[in-house]
Amino acid sequence: MKKLLIALVALLPSLVFAAGTAVHLDKANYDLTDKASLQNGAKLFMNYCSACHSTAHQRYQRVATDLGIPDQLMKDNLIFTNSKIGELMTNSMDKKDAAKWFGNAPLDLTLEARLRGPDWIYTYLRSFYKDPARPFGVNNVVFKDVGMPHVLEELQGIPTAVFETTVDEKGVEHHQVVALESVESGEMSSDEYDRAVLDLVNFLVYSGEPNKLERQSLGFWVIGFLIILFVLSYLLKKEYWRDIH
Ligand code: HEC
Repeated sequence: MKKLLIALVALLPSLVFAAGTAVHLDKANYDLTDKASLQNGAKLFMNYCSACHSTAHQRYQRVATDLGIPDQLMKDNLIFTNSKIGELMTNSMDKKDAAKWFGNAPLDLTLEARLRGPDWIYTYLRSFYKDPARPFGVNNVVFKDVGMPHVLEELQGIPTAVFETTVDEKGVEHHQVVALESVESGEMSSDEYDRAVLDLVNFLVYSGEPNKLERQSLGFWVIGFLIILFVLSYLLKKEYWRDIH
């Protein structure tokens, strides 16, 4: 047992090191109680992502209700297919065609925030950089040789990457991106862009767990109920003990 423990402890630094060599992910401070952020995320998603990515485990109606978007507004502005509001948020892109165009077919993103985590998506959408060698002229720091174009280019512009070449102990050269320099050619400042991406991430976190919103609002009711119950039982206790004292 002791030996096993020692072996584990000896292994720890290498594990930490392995984690340390992975790309650093920025923290996504999303807030599921922020309805305006969720609505903006839904708007961005429908406008910039839904042509390629579905969120097919989710219905338009449910999203409209959960996010406080009136049905008519949802129909007029956020449903770009012939779908009815009660239908699932699928899209009509043919998977085989898509794989031909992009190398890989775009995934359904309903559960993406649970698969990759919010921080990963937040960093990914802010990590495209100019790379003329790639089919769409861009590459990505957290997803090397990604098949997806930089679809938010009109908002952000395309950053350029600063590379550093390091040589490891085996003499192998590593050409790594150490920074991204933003080019202010998009419609948004870099803070505004971060905010927009955070709203998108917020929407995707909600998509993966729509019941979380319900649970949160249910939580307030439960606590309110418990407080009332506590006051009532306290009064009752006083009432019972009055004659005994
Ligand atoms: C023009 C089509 C297209 C659009 C529009 C698009 N994507 Fe993609 N996306 C792709 C493709 C293709 C891949 C797969 C890339 C690969 O595997 O190389 C992908 C991959 C991804 C991934 C990584 C999936 C994984 O876990 O491997 C995420 C996250 C993602 N897209 C999010 C978005 C978001 C958010 C938007 C809207 C801002 C968006 N995409 C718009 C085509 C698109």
